[in-house]
Amino acid sequence: MTSTPLLKVPQHVAIIMDGNGRWARQQSLSRLEGHKRGSDVARDIVTTAARIGVSYLTLYAFSSENWRRDPHEVSGLMALLKHYLEDEVEELHKNDARLKVIGERDLLPNTILDLVEQVEELTKSNKTITLQMAISYGSRAEIIHAARAIAEKVRDRRLDPDAITEQIFEQHLYTAGAPDPDLLIRTSGEQRISNYLLWQLAYTELVFVDKFWPEFTPEDFMNALLTYQNRERRFGTAA
Ligand code: FPP
Repeated sequence: MTSTPLLKVPQHVAIIMDGNGRWARQQSLSRLEGHKRGSDVARDIVTTAARIGVSYLTLYAFSSENWRRDPHEVSGLMALLKHYLEDEVEELHKNDARLKVIGERDLLPNTILDLVEQVEELTKSNKTITLQMAISYGSRAEIIHAARAIAEKVRDRRLDPDAITEQIFEQHLYTAGAPDPDLLIRTSGEQRISNYLLWQLAYTELVFVDKFWPEFTPEDFMNALLTYQNRERRFGTAA
C-alpha cells in the first residue's frame, strides 16, 4: 500500500467491474466462477469505500445489454445478485450503508425485485454510504425514462417547458438526489463508458485500470483514488 496520504476523498465513485469472463478463461474456470469471484471483490471494495469515507459508490452489476447473454450466464448472474443481497444485508445495515438499485426494475425477476425492495426499505435511513447498484441499467434508457416522465408532466400541465433545467432533468433520473460521480474506475484495460451514467459523468475523472475485476484489490482502489487526488478538476473553467 502506498504511503501517500489521501487528502481529497471523492464523494462519489462509480465503477465498471469489467473482465470477469476474461479472468475466468485465463484461469480455465467458467464465466460464472469469474462473476462469483467478482462479487467477492465487490464486497471488499464496498467495505473499503465505506471505511475511507466515500459517500456514494455506484457499481455496474448488470447492464441492459447483459440480458442478451447466454441464458445460463444471465440466470447465474441473477442468482449471484440474490445471494449478494441476502448475504450482505446485515453487513450493509451494520455499516450504516443504504442500498439503492438503479435500472429497469420491471425487467427483474420477482424474487430479486422483492428482495431489492426489502433491503432498500431496511437501509433507507442509513447515512454513512449509499451503494447504488446498477442492475438492468442502461444510461440511454434512463435518459428516455426521464424525458418521458417530464413530457407527461408537461402534457398534464404540471410543468412549464420553460422551467425545464438541468436540475429538473436530474430529478427524473434513477440517480435523483445523488451527486454526480467524481471518479469513474473501469477495470480490464478497456477504455469505454459502455452506456453507463452518460448524463452524470459529464465532468467525472476517468481512471482505467489494466487488471481484470476479479484481480482488483483494495490497494488498487486506493491507488485509483490517489490518481484522482492528483488530477486538477476545472469543470470547464480556464486553467
Ligand atoms: C463484466 O465482466 C462484468 C459483468 C457483466 C457483471 C459484473 C458482475 C459482478 C462483478 C458480479 C455480480 C456483482 C455483485 C455486486 C453481486 P464480463 O463478463 O463482461 O467480462 P469479459 O468482458 O471479460 O467477458
